Amino acid sequence: MRQKVIAGNWKMYKDLAETRELLGALVARTAEIPEGVTAVVCPPFTSLSVAAEMVRGSRIRLGAQNMSEHDEGAFTGEISWKMLKSAGCDFVILGHSERRQYYGETDESVNRKAKKALRAALQPILCVGETLKERESGVTDAIVGGQVRGVLEGLTAEEMNRLIIAYEPVWAIGTGRTATPAQAEAVHAMIRGIVRNLYGDAVSQSLVIQYGGSVKPDNSAELLSQNDIDGALVGGACLKADSFYQIIRSAK
Ligand code: PGA
Repeated sequence: MRQKVIAGNWKMYKDLAETRELLGALVARTAEIPEGVTAVVCPPFTSLSVAAEMVRGSRIRLGAQNMSEHDEGAFTGEISWKMLKSAGCDFVILGHSERRQYYGETDESVNRKAKKALRAALQPILCVGETLKERESGVTDAIVGGQVRGVLEGLTAEEMNRLIIAYEPVWAIGTGRTATPAQAEAVHAMIRGIVRNLYGDAVSQSLVIQYGGSVKPDNSAELLSQNDIDGALVGGACLKADSFYQIIRSAK
């Protein structure tokens, strides 16, 4: 049985006071996290060390939203794997479509970051997904399949056991428009098939593949009940303790 992983991507929301408020509410309710479900929060960089203190000893794990592909140096505005580790992170989201769209990230840069993260024992959440135009032109599998091969380039089977893939159709992110469970499942199964071809059955069967894009309490149970959907990457609905916990509970 694969673990279900529900991760909250806070994006550019929550200053320190707001971080304390939301995490206080989340930590107080960890008894609601079902067995077999991992809950992760990914606040902005400025909140990470405060968040790490607050989740310490609880069942909530910490992740970041991005990471530099370099170890250190003159890279103004960047954050390294070492900084994330020392701030208490176990996870890092890489290649989110907003980073691909606004900050020029590519499969190649995401792949370099993934290698760094894995060597630093940070668990990458590698994001892939097609645009609306691509879906409407019938090239979803080609686009998403290409992204999957690109971000995984050169990774070993052992490393595959320490990463997560998040399928996030760009047209479903922040739009209120979710992929139907069948649409999502079809892409998840396709991704697992690619991983099976590359790494064999055991690796593909243990790979966690999250769905992301307008996941809400009223659609999460059905999405998460699909065969190949092993978790969710949640944006808007993770910013309130109630809706995040409704999604976490629905993973069971
Ligand atoms: P959303 O964001 O849930 O607000 O659509 C998901 C994401 O961008 O990871």
